[in-house]
Amino acid sequence: MAKHNPAGILLIATNPVDVLTYAAWKLSGFAAGRVIGSGTVLDTSRFRYLLSRHFGVDARSIHAYIIGEHGDSEVPVWSLANIAGMRLPEFCQAQDLAYDPRAMEEIFLQTRDAAYRIIERKGATYYAVAAGLMRITQAILRNQSTVLSLSSVINDYYGISDVCFSLPTVIDRGGVEKVLRLELNPEEIERLRHSAKVLKTTIGSLDLG
Ligand SMILES: NC(=O)c1ccc[n+]([C@@H]2O[C@H](COP(=O)([O-])OP(=O)(O)OC[C@H]3O[C@@H](n4cnc5c(N)ncnc54)[C@H](O)[C@@H]3O)[C@@H](O)[C@H]2O)c1
Repeated sequence: MAKHNPAGILLIATNPVDVLTYAAWKLSGFAAGRVIGSGTVLDTSRFRYLLSRHFGVDARSIHAYIIGEHGDSEVPVWSLANIAGMRLPEFCQAQDLAYDPRAMEEIFLQTRDAAYRIIERKGATYYAVAAGLMRITQAILRNQSTVLSLSSVINDYYGISDVCFSLPTVIDRGGVEKVLRLELNPEEIERLRHSAKVLKTTIGSLDLG
């Protein structure tokens, strides 16, 4: 693997993507901001799609993120999910709709387990990740400063450090411009800490020199 390429960016999609993003960072000698994993880009777009069907609003107008591991311990950030700046319970109230936490949990479970169901039916997932990778490379090549839920090296976020997982991240031609430190509620923080622990256990089992 190339060492210390100042202009390059490593974009990792291979699973387990967060663990391999971390390994790529450690082994390559690249600056942390130049090693990016596709992370929860796909999960976030599936999540928004399912929410858009539930609420009858275009997915592009739904702001909601899946953070943490791309996998079983990923975390839906319900506390900040919004449509036009209105949190989901508030949006429902304004539309005279009932906010249904059980339907929301079902949407999250469908999001989290989508890849398993696709793999069961056709053996592998490829179109959505290809579209996700295209979106990421477009943001880099066109220097768009787009916010995407990407995996990168995390430092001192709710006491979590030295691991890779996804948070909303501004990317441009230099790679990670900023990792956005969302203000989470206590349950989300707890779930994210669990996600970090799961990832660290796997990372700890690797020999990264
Ligand atoms: N991040 C995501 O959202 C996402 C989505 C879909 C797939 N994936 C991941 O992408 C990866 C590839 O998926 P796929 O369906 O294309 O798998 P695949 O098995 O069809 O392809 C893997 C390729 O890697 C090659 N390969 C294996 N070991 C190698 C080595 N040591 N050196 C060089 N080449 C090697 C194989 O020959 C094969 O061509 C998997 O890890 C999969 O989990 C990630």
